[in-house]
Formats: sequence, structure tokens, C-alpha cells
Amino acid sequence: MSSSASPAQLKVLISRDQISKRVAELAEKITHDYQGETILFVGVLKGASIFLSDLARQVKLDATFDFISVSSYGNSVRSSGEVKLNKDVDQSLEGKNVIIVEDILDTGLTLSFLLKQFQNHKPKSLKIAALLDKISRRITDVRGDYVGFEIPDEFVVGYGLDYAERYRNLPDVCVLSEIK
Ligand code: IMP
Ligand code: MG
Repeated sequence: MSSSASPAQLKVLISRDQISKRVAELAEKITHDYQGETILFVGVLKGASIFLSDLARQVKLDATFDFISVSSYGNSVRSSGEVKLNKDVDQSLEGKNVIIVEDILDTGLTLSFLLKQFQNHKPKSLKIAALLDKISRRITDVRGDYVGFEIPDEFVVGYGLDYAERYRNLPDVCVLSEIK
């Protein structure tokens, strides 16, 4: 089939089965680490929404949700290096066990910004759950406490991750190439 537009190529990097097994493992670890405690999951919109819903449903603890929205990438595959908080949490985090849930740790700029911001609220504890980690791209010293998969420096979409808002609903994590 021929087309004038160069079609995007999608190649499965992490299958839905691998994701589901790993998410169950992370949930088990969280359940174990926070025994007898309550937790507040703070999801970073929109990319973490699918990971958060799968993870939280397997954590056997008393848990609540909140969501924040930040912009760092716009519709590009490159980070602008700037992080802007578009929507803050709806509550005080003081004295709470907060787990920030992110789709991917890339340069680390977003999460180091959020950690700084959230520490000011004086939470009881503050940890990071990230489905993916592009460790080779890190320019800050932030690290994830519950990381699903370390991946190479490739642009990925699916399972919540987007390119220009597309592909979030793919059930697998796929490498997107041929983007101009
Ligand atoms: P960081 O601040 O550079 O760590 O960037 C984190 C954000 O960049 C993530 O929440 C994603 O929105 C976005 N991002 C980084 N790498 C990718 C990718 O491969 N695919 C889709 N989004 C990405
Ligand atoms: Mg994101």
C-alpha cells in the first residue's frame, strides 16, 4: 500500500503480558512495604493513568488517588527542559504516604521538580513508581523506587504514553520510529 505521508512504525518493545506480570510484582512489593499504612497515589496526567489504574487495583492496602498535570514536552519528542505545574493536588500531602506514579523517567527533570514541590508539603513518606526508566538519559540524580522496566533510549508509546496525544490506548509499549 502506498501513501504520501510517511507512516509511523510501531514495534512492540514490552508486551501486555510482560507489563501485567511486572505491574503485579510492583503491587506486591508496595503492599509489603506499606503494611498497616494507608497510601496516596498521585498520578501524573495523562501518561500515568493506565499504569496507576492497573497498579492500584492490585495493591492490597487502603489507598486514595489524586492527580496532577505538568507540561514538559509539548507535542515534541524532545524535552523543553522546563516543567510547569498545570494542575496541583487537591489536598494537603502533610503526614501522608505519597507515591508519585509516572509513566516514564527520562531526563528526570519532571520528577525532581515534583519531589521538591511535594517535600514542601511535609509528607510522611514520598516515593516514585514509574513504569519505564530511560536511565541513560538522566540529567538529574532522581531515581525510581518502584520501576517496571529499564529501556534503551528510544521513543516509546502505548499503555498511556503518547506521541502528540496519540497511541495512549495501545495495550503494549511500542517503539515509534519514522517520526519526522
Ligand atoms: P523527564 O522530565 O525528561 O523525565 O520526562 C518525563 C516525561 O517525558 C514523561 O512523563 C513523558 O511524558 C515524556 N517522555 C519521555 N520519554 C518519552 C517517550 O519515550 N515516550 C513518550 N513520552 C516520553
Ligand atoms: Mg508524562
